[in-house]
Amino acid sequence: MVPESTAEKPYPPLSHIPAHVGIIMDGNGRWAKARGLPRLAGHRAGVDNLRRVLRAAADFGIPILTIYAFSTENWGRPEEEVQGLLRIFEQMVDREVAKLHREGVQLRHIGRQERIPERLQRKVKKAVELTRDNHRLVLNVAFNYGGRTEIVDAVRQIIEAGIPAAEIDEDVIANHLYTAGLPDVDLVIRTSGEMRVSNFLIWQGAYAEYYVTPTYWPDFDKDELYKALVAYNQRERRFGLLPE
Ligand code: IPE
Ligand code: IPE
Ligand code: MG
Repeated sequence: MVPESTAEKPYPPLSHIPAHVGIIMDGNGRWAKARGLPRLAGHRAGVDNLRRVLRAAADFGIPILTIYAFSTENWGRPEEEVQGLLRIFEQMVDREVAKLHREGVQLRHIGRQERIPERLQRKVKKAVELTRDNHRLVLNVAFNYGGRTEIVDAVRQIIEAGIPAAEIDEDVIANHLYTAGLPDVDLVIRTSGEMRVSNFLIWQGAYAEYYVTPTYWPDFDKDELYKALVAYNQRERRFGLLPE
């Protein structure tokens, strides 16, 4: 990644860095509204902000980041917004992939292919193939993603593979999710104040720590990410057991 600027303030080291962080990038529309701008201007600012947060995540040593970019429910928004989002996302792929590749980012897509325009599907596939051997940071982009759809797709695959009922356990299901091979999410950050999961990583987040900030996504910066990591370090994860 790009070297940290020398003017940057120090961030005291943290004892626990989560292996897998999820971010529900919410509040683009409200960010735009507060400035008297159209919602799509908020989405553009949101996509621009990704670069900054990615760099910060890599600086803090977060190995896996899953970002919620477009849900299976978001298709129900007005056509103009959906088309605008698809356009902005495609522009991001066009402009950023080479740079991300140079910076050692491994790109993945989680979600259904269907309904995503073919040209965009092809570009995403190419980006995933180009970056597959990078290991600085895994960036999972949840696009046309829904946690329930993910479980439905896993069940279909398990049945198609002919796995007998008696052999189905939690590992079998986890290995058929879009995130197969990745550890469960440790920390889920949601911007813009909403206290809900909105169908994001519902299986993988069973024991995640949740952190909500009122900041809208386009304003979420390195300081904000650090604050979330500090909060994570103050949590006691018990996984149903008794405290130490
Ligand atoms: C999040 O911002 C981005 C997407 C859901 C695509 P929103 O568009 O949900 O912004 P708000 O919640 O309306 O402010
Ligand atoms: C969740 O945000 C989806 C993404 C951030 C992509 P939404 O804005 O769609 O969620 P709700 O409607 O507030 O639950
Ligand atoms: Mg929203």
